[in-house]
Amino acid sequence: MLLNLTNVVAGYGGSDVLQGVNLAVEDGSITCIVGPNGAGKSTVLRVVSGLLRPRTGEITYNGRSIAGMNPRQILSLGIVQVAQNHSVFPKMTVRENVRLGAFMLSDRALVNRRLEEVEEMFPVVKERANDKAGSLSGGQQRLVEFARCLMLDPQLILLDEPSMGLDPKTLRQVFERVKAMQQGGRTILLVEQNARAGLGISNHGVVMESGRVRLEGSHEDVLSNPEISQLYLGGTISAAPKTSIS
Ligand SMILES: Nc1ncnc2c1ncn2[C@@H]1O[C@H](COP(=O)(O)OP(=O)(O)O)[C@@H](O)[C@H]1O
Ligand SMILES: [Mg+2]
Repeated sequence: MLLNLTNVVAGYGGSDVLQGVNLAVEDGSITCIVGPNGAGKSTVLRVVSGLLRPRTGEITYNGRSIAGMNPRQILSLGIVQVAQNHSVFPKMTVRENVRLGAFMLSDRALVNRRLEEVEEMFPVVKERANDKAGSLSGGQQRLVEFARCLMLDPQLILLDEPSMGLDPKTLRQVFERVKAMQQGGRTILLVEQNARAGLGISNHGVVMESGRVRLEGSHEDVLSNPEISQLYLGGTISAAPKTSIS
C-alpha cells in the first residue's frame, strides 16, 4: 500500500470530523471516496496533504509516517492536492498558471522539460498557453489545474470533486484525463459527489458517512451495493431498510 490511514481522528475547533478513519490506497490505483455532503471526504484529503493535523491516529506514505508534517514537506514527498474550488489565477496566462506548479524547483531545464510533457498530455495547455486562464471554460480550467499539479512529478494526486460544475460531456473528458494520469504511473485518491462516474473509473471505492468509512471494496462491489442508493437519499447504511438481493 502506498498510503495508509489508521484510526485517524481530526477536526476543526472543538469537534472531531473524522472519527477514526481507516483507509488504504494501493500504489498505481485510483481510489474513489464517495459519501454525502459533510461526511468528511475533503477533510481526509486535508489530513493527507498536511493542511490539517490529525489529532490521533497514523498516516503512512511509502511506509513512513507523515502525520504532523507540514504541507510543504508532504509536497516534497510527491503528494499534491488539486483543490475542490477552482484555483487557477484568472488574470495570469495558462502557461504561467502551469509553471506555478513547479514553484519548488530551481532547475529551469527540468521545468521546461516538464512543461513540454504536460503540454503533450493536455493539448489545451499548449493551444491556449498565452491566453488568460480566466477566459477558459470550467472544464479547461480543471485540466490546467491537473497540468499544474503534474509539474512536480507527483506520485500521489489528491483530487477533490474534479467534476463539480461540469456538464456531462466535459466531465467525461476530465475523467478520461484522470485515468490517463493513472496510466502515466500516478496513484490517485479521488473524492467525488458524482459517485457513479467517480467509481466508474476507479479500482477501489470507499463510502464515507459521518466521519467514518462505512463500506469499501472494488468499484463493482460498491456500485452494486443496494444500500448505497439509500445513503444518497439521505438515509444511513445502518438505518436503511434491508433490501433483499434475489
Ligand atoms: N474549516 C472548517 N472549519 C470548521 N468546520 C469545518 C471546516 N471544514 C469543514 N468543516 C466541517 O467538517 C465536516 C466535514 O466537512 P468536509 O470534510 O468538507 O465534508 P465533505 O467533503 O465530505 O463534504 C462538515 O460538517 C463541515 O461543516
Ligand atoms: Mg468536500
